[in-house]
Amino acid sequence: MCGIVGGVGQFAIRDYLINGLKTLDYRGYDSAGVALAEPKGIHVFRMPGRVQALDEVTPRDLDVVLGIGHTRWATHGAPTASNAHPHTSMHGEFVLVHNGVIDNFRHLKNKLESEGYVFKSETDTEVAANILEYHYLKLKNVKDAMLAMIEELQGSYALAILKKGDLKHIYFAKNRSPMVVGRGVGKNLLASDFLPMLKEGQDFAPILDHQYGYITAETIKIYNEDGSEAKPKFTRPDLKIEDIGLQGYPHYMLKEIEEAPAVVRRLIDNYFDGNEFLFDKKLITKMKSADDIIFIACGTSYHACLIGRRYMEYLGKRSEVYIASEWAYHPFVSAKKPLFVIVSQSGETADLIRCMEIINSRGAVSLTITNTKGSTLERDATYSLLLFAGVEIAVASTKAYVAQVALLSLLTGAMDGSTAVVSHLYDVIKAEHAVIAESDSLRSTAKYLSGKKDVFFLGRGTDYDVALEASLKLKEITYIHSEGLPGGELKHGPIALIEKDTPVIGFISDPLTDLPIRSNFKEVEARGATVITVVSKSLAKAGDVITVPDVKEYLSPLVKVLVAQYLAYFAALELKVNIDKPRNLAKSVTVE
Ligand code: AGP
Repeated sequence: MCGIVGGVGQFAIRDYLINGLKTLDYRGYDSAGVALAEPKGIHVFRMPGRVQALDEVTPRDLDVVLGIGHTRWATHGAPTASNAHPHTSMHGEFVLVHNGVIDNFRHLKNKLESEGYVFKSETDTEVAANILEYHYLKLKNVKDAMLAMIEELQGSYALAILKKGDLKHIYFAKNRSPMVVGRGVGKNLLASDFLPMLKEGQDFAPILDHQYGYITAETIKIYNEDGSEAKPKFTRPDLKIEDIGLQGYPHYMLKEIEEAPAVVRRLIDNYFDGNEFLFDKKLITKMKSADDIIFIACGTSYHACLIGRRYMEYLGKRSEVYIASEWAYHPFVSAKKPLFVIVSQSGETADLIRCMEIINSRGAVSLTITNTKGSTLERDATYSLLLFAGVEIAVASTKAYVAQVALLSLLTGAMDGSTAVVSHLYDVIKAEHAVIAESDSLRSTAKYLSGKKDVFFLGRGTDYDVALEASLKLKEITYIHSEGLPGGELKHGPIALIEKDTPVIGFISDPLTDLPIRSNFKEVEARGATVITVVSKSLAKAGDVITVPDVKEYLSPLVKVLVAQYLAYFAALELKVNIDKPRNLAKSVTVE
């Protein structure tokens, strides 16, 4: 899950590529590189680590007419300079960058080695460069060589390619990994998403699977698998450059945590007109008549789906939740009329794209809930609903989770034909503002957690679902081991891990389970644990540590999760780690 960017035309291409990579490095930050073409030839610059390091070594005085760039999340080969992109084919005919995984690279590498090819890196990408060159030296035509390459490659790829001696074309090919082209004045662009092209581009169009082609300063040519020319619809997202800036915040994660009330408000405005819900009536009918609502997602989005399932069960509807990478290979469905709900912030998660292919191959009805308009999962679903949360830059997802749970609650209200959820969400907005206003009071608890090796989060019902998300947030950005557990499950094993001063964060939102969860806290306290309760005001008792305003129990995750997000953020601040770009992670997981 790397980021690629390219551009051709009369403009400051070197800076466009470097700045473009800086907006894309939430996709991976193991190494970065650019290839700059000027009359004397193609110059490649690569550095391990962040784009900043590349910026320092890339000259500013070249007369660049076109170029490509890459920021890497290592899949094949360690994050070294020799494995960094761009990769150059053995005889120097092609220089390319790649996002994705070539599944059959080993087989192709053996074939090329038997043809005398010598490899300089451990990457699957260098295989693509050499297989393209191998065919080009035979066919002497770039388009035919690309078709031959596409024929041989198996797996996911978004490729941007330069040809030696060609100062006009940037070639591209796409399958499964995201790619977008952008039109500008006297220039044309391409990238993994539209963000790096916002400044130089006027409008943008997604490249679809199995499409290939080229961009020049004057034109964009896109061919379909059958060789016919594609004419995509170009649009411009309603987004300004400054919207993706830090706006005075020290980190995107803090900015995005504190956008929660605005995110909930925007969802109400987009899906309720003051009297009735604005969801597609056909979608609501389909959801009501489905005999099983099957949620599929990954990571934080999966945790939001756990809440979605509870909402469906409140309506008396059968519902299940699956982790995408598991369901993709065990896609069993017993229901006759299932409706699949795919939840994904990025809309490009590879595990989910594989699930969507299975769902579509069965002709089943699907709904994608995503934050990314024009994404693969939005395009390939029967129905789609946008989260309107604004671009989420920090790798640790925060406002998208809030938007996912809030949207699922509105959808449930629409299925139930009750608008009560809307006023309940206004209470949530007030409660979130109160948590934000009091957030500094959470720093001392976070400081305590930052000194720990293991942390446990406990809850029952929706609080258990929040405990799972709270644990993921802490793990992702502090690298502290933690677990989210159902309060009643501890005594069946995990309590063995509890010892003197083991931190246990306990969520209490439901009067029904107030007493049982408090006895679970007593059980761990008896083994020396330090219990930190996060409780709704009306359930608060002496000794409780963190109290938050009351909201309807079924919406309490929208308030409790803010406390969890702040605890993780402040603990990471104490540990002086890179909060927005945690090690080993990437924002959009475009490889399986
Ligand atoms: C969450 O903080 C992580 N970034 C990760 O678990 C993420 O939720 C997961 O990769 C799913 O991403 P998606 O919502 O874009 O599909």
